Amino acid sequence: MAMAKWPRVNTVLALKFKINLKIMPKSDYPLPPNVVCLRETNQIEALLTMIRDKTTNRGDFIFYSDRIIRLLVEEGLNHLPVVEKTVVTPTSNEFKGVGFKGKICGVSIMRAGEAMEQGLRDCCRSVRIGKILIQRDEETAQPKLYYAKLPPDIESRYVLLLDPMLATGGSAIKAIEVLLSHGVKEDKILFLNLIAAPEGIDAVTKKYSQLKLITACIDKGLDEKKYIIPGLGDFGDRYFTLP
Ligand code: PRP
Ligand code: URA
Repeated sequence: MAMAKWPRVNTVLALKFKINLKIMPKSDYPLPPNVVCLRETNQIEALLTMIRDKTTNRGDFIFYSDRIIRLLVEEGLNHLPVVEKTVVTPTSNEFKGVGFKGKICGVSIMRAGEAMEQGLRDCCRSVRIGKILIQRDEETAQPKLYYAKLPPDIESRYVLLLDPMLATGGSAIKAIEVLLSHGVKEDKILFLNLIAAPEGIDAVTKKYSQLKLITACIDKGLDEKKYIIPGLGDFGDRYFTLP
């Protein structure tokens, strides 16, 4: 797919002409049709800068991550289908509007995805939330599935899949396999993500072209340990355990 070639080509050009990769315009990245990236507003850029900064303490990391998560959830909800709905206003007039079509649920990829659950709850009162525990091996970066507990009627719902980091795409692909094996339709999956590497986007969208991937930011690539660069380090550690 042409999508993943852009950063590689530009990495080669950057090395050849000694250009700083940081000034490469992210907006030139050709997005596959099923990927949505939040608009690069000053606010989003400032929030992302806060959580990328290694000197940001855990309290601030949580606060600013939660702000981005809220924006992602709101964007995700924009992609759910609606049906016509007419209501009567207190002035006794009819208003022809819309209402959401169908039921939703959240599914978080533990541990880091759990950080996104509250943002979803803040927008969707008493939303059901399933959990899939997948951990990357620290040496090989290969994902391992340990546990899945999902709403019993998940096959009839739109699923907001929650994981802040998309690196190689291995964990997301495993989680999507679990959802499909429980009868969820691929085109009813909305994957919400804070930072994506082109490699992860490529891997997920090559395998799954019907789901929707909504991310706040697309980074340059992966380092030798398969961490996203420039990235923000280990999201789960920074949100849940570091000082
Ligand atoms: C992180 C992250 C994703 C995964 C992304 O989780 O939250 O689930 O890595 O990497 P990938 O795209 O290469 O699979 P990790 O397994 O480190 O566990 P954690 O949530 O406990 O931090
Ligand atoms: N998981 C993280 O938390 N960060 C990365 O950069 C890659 C995987």
